[in-house]
Amino acid sequence: MFRRKKTDNFQIKIRFVNKEEYFNVTLIPLLNGKNEVYKIIGLTHNLTDHILNEKNLKKLNSSLEKTIDALATLEEYRDPYTAGHQRRVCDLAKTIAKTCGLDEQQVHWLRSASLLHDIGKNHVPSAILTKPTRLTPAEYEIIREHVESGYQILKIIDFPGNVAEIVYQHHEFIDGSGYPRGLKENEICIEAKILTVADIVEAMASHRPYRASRGIDVALDQIRMWQGTKLDTKIVDTCIQVFNEGYQFIEYNKPLSQIVIEESLSRE
Ligand SMILES: [Fe+2]
Repeated sequence: MFRRKKTDNFQIKIRFVNKEEYFNVTLIPLLNGKNEVYKIIGLTHNLTDHILNEKNLKKLNSSLEKTIDALATLEEYRDPYTAGHQRRVCDLAKTIAKTCGLDEQQVHWLRSASLLHDIGKNHVPSAILTKPTRLTPAEYEIIREHVESGYQILKIIDFPGNVAEIVYQHHEFIDGSGYPRGLKENEICIEAKILTVADIVEAMASHRPYRASRGIDVALDQIRMWQGTKLDTKIVDTCIQVFNEGYQFIEYNKPLSQIVIEESLSRE
């Protein structure tokens, strides 16, 4: 006897010989004049495709993440300075993004974009990248092309979080003085604005083979000077805030490939 007088809704999994299917079941009791259940109407809806699609989407996202880590590892083999820079920028950008209140998905894809933002430098000869003296205008032009090249490489992979576009915008400034497209304020996505600030701070605060670190204080003074003109006001405030609260750049002393392996082992 079905005593429950309210509608019931639940999911079940049915195992067939060689497959499993998922159903949503709704049971609606019909009451007679004495308030007794005299009939139950049952409705089922097959959820198998929906559930399998969700599982496949998770798998796809995980594969994309591994693709990003693999690409970043490849870069590390070629140029340890660029790789270390990208990992530190990635960590700072994530911290700023979380403090600014970006949602989990935005932070996730910003991580990917940060980790690969200079991937286009693969096209730039090492002699130019590490040149200890002032670059010629022609050499500077070649370096600037890394943004377009990075975009062309990443747009081949159809990232759900617009990773290629974030990379494309990481040298744009809100007053339109950046490159390659001279985008302004509202034309630049928030993820790219965060990446730009993190990129500048890390680049100035770190040692390079061709120059010493200028120090974090000088780096923060620089973004303060560009606040509201080249750089977003709120993001600059947030970046300074995270350093005031004790943020420090991580010194990576092991290759990314090893970190990726360790992280995936700890998840298993
Ligand atoms: Fe760059």
